[in-house]
Amino acid sequence: MSEKKVVAVTGGKGLVGSRFVSDFSDNYDFVHLDISDPIRPVDITKLDQVMAALNNKEVSAIVHFAAYTDVTGAWKQTGDKSGLAYQVNVMGTESMVAAANELHAQFINISTAYVFDGTKEDLYTEIDTPNPIEWYGQTKALAEEVVQNQARNWVNLRIDQPYRPDAFAKVDVIHRILTSLKDGTLYPQFTDHFFGPTYIPDFAKVIDWTIRTKKTGIFHASSGESWSDYDFARAVALANGSDFDSIKKGHLTEYLKTSERPYQKNTAMSSDKLTKTLDFTLNNVSEVLKVDT
Ligand SMILES: NC(=O)c1ccc[n+]([C@@H]2O[C@H](COP(=O)([O-])OP(=O)(O)OC[C@H]3O[C@@H](n4cnc5c(N)ncnc54)[C@H](OP(=O)(O)O)[C@@H]3O)[C@@H](O)[C@H]2O)c1
Repeated sequence: MSEKKVVAVTGGKGLVGSRFVSDFSDNYDFVHLDISDPIRPVDITKLDQVMAALNNKEVSAIVHFAAYTDVTGAWKQTGDKSGLAYQVNVMGTESMVAAANELHAQFINISTAYVFDGTKEDLYTEIDTPNPIEWYGQTKALAEEVVQNQARNWVNLRIDQPYRPDAFAKVDVIHRILTSLKDGTLYPQFTDHFFGPTYIPDFAKVIDWTIRTKKTGIFHASSGESWSDYDFARAVALANGSDFDSIKKGHLTEYLKTSERPYQKNTAMSSDKLTKTLDFTLNNVSEVLKVDT
């Protein structure tokens, strides 16, 4: 019999989840709940499929990455509770929480800085009140509430603009910048929009830490740094030998005059609460900007 903890994962084929699974495959016995699994597809909105997949397994933790993550697609579904964004993000989370309670498993929910309205001048902390301004953020904030109100043993980990050093099918913020720079299609980069990049290999270690130490509560698990799009794009280009001088400045305030979809002006979060108790150190973003292309 394996001594490893059994950890169930939703969204384990996605940008963030797949890196956690590959980095920690020696540490845990993973049970995958994947909607695109060719043999046993599991739709997280169907509790019977979830329970059938977890049947007879001593699951210690469920790490819930699966989500409808297309923010513009979600915006087009605003208010539609039968739409995929609400169904996957809210109802899917509800059935995963029910499964975790049934199995007495820790529930680790992956959430987002988009639960905030983006008007704060400073870094967002865990005591700031969510006030999402678009449907993706609203569904993720509702999912957090489901977790906090219904799960017996829960963690809400919020991240922002996750990226990884290896190239992946779903393009992250750094690979998008580098590809567009190469093609000459990079839009002017906002100097008045701020975010907190999340280095996925560090975040994978944070998830492992929440399982190892049986943490509970809300944690901001981005880098804890604040970057403007323009400064970030220049630093990324510099770190990867691309032409940073060709990057033009743009302004979110100007862009918003022509966009129907609202954008948060600032999603940078403080990670002080996390780093005070974490048993390893997060990388500085400027030291982990070099990526494979
Ligand atoms: N990416 C970001 O910028 C970002 C920022 C902040 C927070 N987050 C959060 O981080 C988490 C992971 O994001 P990500 O970018 O890694 O996501 P992703 O690459 O878009 O992957 C989402 C995963 O969810 C799965 N999924 C969707 N609907 C499902 C359903 N009904 N049943 C089972 N699985 C389903 C997808 O499965 P298939 O691939 O098989 O369809 C996919 O594996 C999400 O909770 C997201 O909200 C992401």
